[in-house]
Amino acid sequence: MFSRETYISRRNELKKRVGSGLILFIGNDETGCNYEDNTYDFRQDSSFLYYFGLPYAGLNAIIDIDNDREIIFGDELTIDAIVWMGNQPTLHEKAGMVGIDTTLPAADIKGYLEKAAKSGQKIHYTPTYRAEHKLKLLDWLNIKPGAETPSVDLIRAIVDMRSHKTEEEIAEIERACNVTADMHIAAMKALRPGMHEYEIVAVIESVAAANGCRLSFPTIATTHGQTLHNHAHHHIVKPGDMLLIDAGAETPMGYAGDMSSTICADKTYTSRQKLIYDLQVASHLASVAALKPGVPFKDIYELSCTVVCQGLKDLGIMKGDPAEAVAVGAHAMFYPCGLGHMMGLDVHDMENLGEVWVGYNGEPKSTQFGRKSLRLARPLEPGFVHTIEPGIYFIPELIDYWGSEKRFADFINYAELEKWRDFTGVRNEEDYLITADGARRLGKKIPLTTEEVEALR
Ligand code: GLY
Ligand code: MN
Repeated sequence: MFSRETYISRRNELKKRVGSGLILFIGNDETGCNYEDNTYDFRQDSSFLYYFGLPYAGLNAIIDIDNDREIIFGDELTIDAIVWMGNQPTLHEKAGMVGIDTTLPAADIKGYLEKAAKSGQKIHYTPTYRAEHKLKLLDWLNIKPGAETPSVDLIRAIVDMRSHKTEEEIAEIERACNVTADMHIAAMKALRPGMHEYEIVAVIESVAAANGCRLSFPTIATTHGQTLHNHAHHHIVKPGDMLLIDAGAETPMGYAGDMSSTICADKTYTSRQKLIYDLQVASHLASVAALKPGVPFKDIYELSCTVVCQGLKDLGIMKGDPAEAVAVGAHAMFYPCGLGHMMGLDVHDMENLGEVWVGYNGEPKSTQFGRKSLRLARPLEPGFVHTIEPGIYFIPELIDYWGSEKRFADFINYAELEKWRDFTGVRNEEDYLITADGARRLGKKIPLTTEEVEALR
């Protein structure tokens, strides 16, 4: 955990920004996987971690701004729990570590909230993303699932604070990024044709475990890289394949890394693979070069798309004016996702608070296929941490679907594209911090160019 002063000052700042009412932080509980006692790996809610630091199940918290009280609600461990799970500091001791004096039994939160609601106090809470959150709101405040009204004032305050990473947070993220880079480098060294994808997953995930980290999201390691989030790992990697890896570590404090690489199964990429791979790298590097405060990330996305369209035009796969192709959305045949997303205590940082607040500062999002998947669009500010991950994908189902309608036939050369339908996909991803006058890559460099990857094969 950070020092108690960090959590005290974060809460003081939040109180100032929200101004009045009561802020309810719903902590996460243990969740049974296939029976109650066989639980999913416990993960605390990220905003709870940000303001209260405590990575324990069974806690909820209130910041009662109007009555100047901060309370953590939870129960002491029973003797049975201690026998099976071991002892822990008392709840009061845990709360003390993050600067909270008042703890109350878990069951008392209902009465506290009922009283606050009766007295007309505004109760601020964030959007729910687990069934247990909805059940708690139903139990405590009789708010029916689906009828929640999260507080926009609270969301905006949290998003603004969590978006600007402090030095101590950047050090933690950089730790996650260094482990993440080692996960990719180990995979680059270990991959051989004939291996199953899951053998590489084992290599990747063992690096995280060996560094005291867990995963920031389920590992992607696939020879079918055209499927953006492919979690199947059972294929054999054949000569001539590429293995697309998207994997990241999460530090014990909850900070994430997130990188992608696309590795040739053989010692070198084929000349055909290089054509698309080099184009992805060109789009990636053009995006990185454009990073600086004040530039809307949306503009960098448009740039990354235009580079891809120009390159595909040079290969005869696209035609027409690349900028026009991007404006109408024709690029999404090959690049149907965004350029990157915020990263911090969540791999897609604060996504549960609403993309429109995190990535768009309340501005409306595009609904156009491809462009609608851009998670970050707002002007960049110093302290933002985000990924850069343009991709080029050949998705047979999309080729057939759009091809049957001749969609964007002014920009897509379907006859040429047919020759590429089994190419799969290329994505490389790095993590960046926006600085006062530019950007800095976080963590060790992973091989990016074909020469850099081939040097490890
Ligand atoms: N690393 C997975 C993603 O960014 O969506
Ligand atoms: Mn990512």
